[in-house]
This record gives sequence, structure tokens and C-alpha cells, in this order.
Amino acid sequence: MHEITKDMEILQQAIVRYSVERMRMDPPEIDAPMTPEQLTAMAGQTITDKGLGGLEALRLFTDVLAPACISSDHPKFLAFVPAAPTEASTLFDLIVGASSICGSTWLESAGATYAENQALRWIADLAGFGHNAGGAFVSGGTAGNLSALVAARHQRRRGKTELEPLRGLVISSKGAHASIKQATYVMDVDLLEVGGDRLTGEDVEEAITGLSEIDRKRLFAVACTAGTTNLGIIDDMKGIGQVSDEQDVWMHVDGAYGGAGLAAPSIREAFNGIELADSFIVDPHKWLFAPFDCCALIYKDPRLAREAHQQQGAYLEVVYDGVWNVSDYAHHLTRRARGLPLWFSLATHGTKAYSDAVEQTLAVAKATALRIERHPDLELVTEQNLSICVFRKKGWHAEDYAHWSDHQLETGQSFVTPTKHNGETVLRFCIVNPRTTIQHIEEILASL
Ligand SMILES: Cc1ncc(COP(=O)(O)O)c(C=O)c1O
Repeated sequence: MHEITKDMEILQQAIVRYSVERMRMDPPEIDAPMTPEQLTAMAGQTITDKGLGGLEALRLFTDVLAPACISSDHPKFLAFVPAAPTEASTLFDLIVGASSICGSTWLESAGATYAENQALRWIADLAGFGHNAGGAFVSGGTAGNLSALVAARHQRRRGKTELEPLRGLVISSKGAHASIKQATYVMDVDLLEVGGDRLTGEDVEEAITGLSEIDRKRLFAVACTAGTTNLGIIDDMKGIGQVSDEQDVWMHVDGAYGGAGLAAPSIREAFNGIELADSFIVDPHKWLFAPFDCCALIYKDPRLAREAHQQQGAYLEVVYDGVWNVSDYAHHLTRRARGLPLWFSLATHGTKAYSDAVEQTLAVAKATALRIERHPDLELVTEQNLSICVFRKKGWHAEDYAHWSDHQLETGQSFVTPTKHNGETVLRFCIVNPRTTIQHIEEILASL
């Protein structure tokens, strides 16, 4: 398996050819899932005693398995939060995979860490975090939110042994992503959801004032959102920041989706107050054009995160000599240097290209909202926020949206899924792909 053979050279060329052709597809097939029975019938048993051989395994992937995976970079993939990695970032992902870099410690990955930290610095600067800020690239927003809240709880209990037996408490909003709730479940702490679609400083102040003395002691973080997943709403970070500061509570900002808007001058003002946060996240695998999986997690004071997350062990002592070990800043140890594809693309294209690309998607989202407003049978449910448009078709019920959405996917036209707003089933477009044009949107709207 480890010898370099002729067969492996042929396989090498086939895999590189496939990768490059896949990157160049504009658009790729949108594809669709299959049932386990269909996949069993088509792929059969793939793990065998003797092995299938590389070319046959690759054929199975190309012909059977890949078409059963939806292409999230298709310009008409507007469900959830799509992906739109640059060619440079995807190409570099091949290098990351080929290089066996363990991106955990400075000892093992000084060069990779240096580059990742420069990419994190760009993001920290966009948010107005000071020069001490730093963090780590983790697998996604879910991991980022959890690691930030663990650091927040550590900071709250630091040096206060009387707080240790108390179950922690986090304040967040109804619009926050499910991963905040999941983080509190994993941490075995309580969650208090307050406010309406947009969390404000007043909501947080009122919630804190209403807490009992013991609950006030339990409270260790306010988690707000810069771009809610469903509606794209940016919470009142200025107000929440002031209250958090007055009340000495850690402020975390989940910008997994919307944080990319920091790079867009036209909407930067909406993020004012983010600089007051103690930690924030943004997922480059969403709207910052990096391949999966990549979340930038940044702390204002990374020392606190290090205290919370550093793993201790006799075998690890060699790595603790005052250097920057990425493993210290999140709930992880071994990790791929997953920030490198973003770094490479940033280094290749420069930051202006990123601002332009985010602005372009915003312009398409604005034009989409206009088309919906002018359409006789469609209605915006809320105003267009960031790059999200949520709308209804007059007279449609949940099953109409479901049938339409299924048909679109089955016929390879688009991937748009319904969501709910105040209990009503509606449609939602999330536009993060600079290849999504207003013509693509018009084609989808025409099918409604
Ligand atoms: C606001 C927000 N936070 C967190 C997440 C979770 O991110 P991930 O899926 O990368 O774990 C998402 C995902 O869409 C999100 O939109």
C-alpha cells in the first residue's frame, strides 16, 4: 500500500484530473440523494478482502456515490447556507491533504500556523479586535460556538471556587442557531432565550434584571448573532455589548453565516458593536469562499481560551514552551490545518477581491428582493437582510412548497428548501455564491 507503483501513478493522474475537472464545472450537476437501497443496488459491497483497485473505487465514486451528493457550490443551490469555494482555495486543499501537516502545535506546524494566524488577523481586523486577538480554525460554527462558550464559562469561574458547583447559564435569542442550544446541552448548562427576531441591548438588560441572585451568579455569557440563519438578522451588538460590559458578562457573537458581511463596506456599519465582543466566529466555508470545513474562532483575550482548552499530558510537555499552539484555543487537539485554503486564496487574490465578491452576492440578493416585491403572486415575509430573502407564494400551503422544492431537486433545476416564519411555511433563498446571477434567480421565480 505504501510502495510507489505504476498503478498508483495512474491513479494519481486520474484523481488529479477528476479534481481539476470538478473544480472547473460551471455549473456542476446539482445531483440528489438516493436511498440506501438504491445505493446498495448500484454500489454493492465496496470494502472487500482483496480490495477493488483504485481505478474501480474511483469509478464507483464518480459514477455512483458523487451523484448521490448535492453540489453545494451549484449557483442555484440556495438552501441552508451554500458554499462557494474559490478555485485557489480548493486547489490548495489538495496540498493540505497531501502534506500530512498536523496543525496542532507550533512544533509540528509553525509555517502553517503562521499563515493561518495571518488569515485570522484579517478577520480580527475586520471586526476591530485589538492586536492581542487570536484563535483557531475549527471544523464549523457548531464547534466554534461550543469552544467560545467553554472559554466564557472558564473566565466566569476563574479564581472563584464558590461558583464552581453552580450550573452555568447562557442568555441567547430565539433567532440564534441551533448550535448554541446544542452547546449548552453538551456543557450541561441552562439556556435562557429572550427577545424577538432581533436581540437588543434592552432585551438582555431586562433579562438580566429579572434574574434571581443565584441565576445572576450562574450567568456567564450572552450569545448574540450577526446574521441569523433563517432571516439574516444582525442583533443589536452595540447595545448588547454595552450591557455585557456593565454586567461583566462575556459577549459571544455567532457570525458563522453573516460575519462575512464585515468584509462588505456597504453593510459594515450594521456590525458596529462587534468590537465589544469577547469572542466571535465566522465560517469561511459559508460566505468567505473556502472549502469545507472551516470556522474562524477569535478571542479578544486568547489567554483565557488557552487556560480553558489546553490539554495536559506528559507526552505534550515538549510543546509548551511559550509558543502559539493552535490546539490550545478550542476543543480539539489533532487537527488538519484547515485555515490554509482560505489563507492561500487570500494571499493569491488579496482582500479587495473578497470584499467585491461579498458585495456582488449582496447586489444579487437586493435585486432578488425587488423581483419578489414586484411579482404579483409573491410577497417578502420580512425585509431582505444580508443575502437572505424569505418570501411566500400567495395561497400556497406547506405541501405546495414541499412538492415544488422536491420537483426542483429531482429535475436538477435548483435546491431551495422551505423554512418556517412564525409557524408559517415559506421559502428562503440564501445567496453566497458569486456565480449566482439574477438570471438564475429569475429562472427559479418563473417556476413558482
Ligand atoms: C448562525 C449560524 N451559527 C452556527 C451555524 C453552524 O455552523 P456549522 O454548520 O458550520 O457547524 C450555522 C450554520 O448554518 C449558522 O448559520
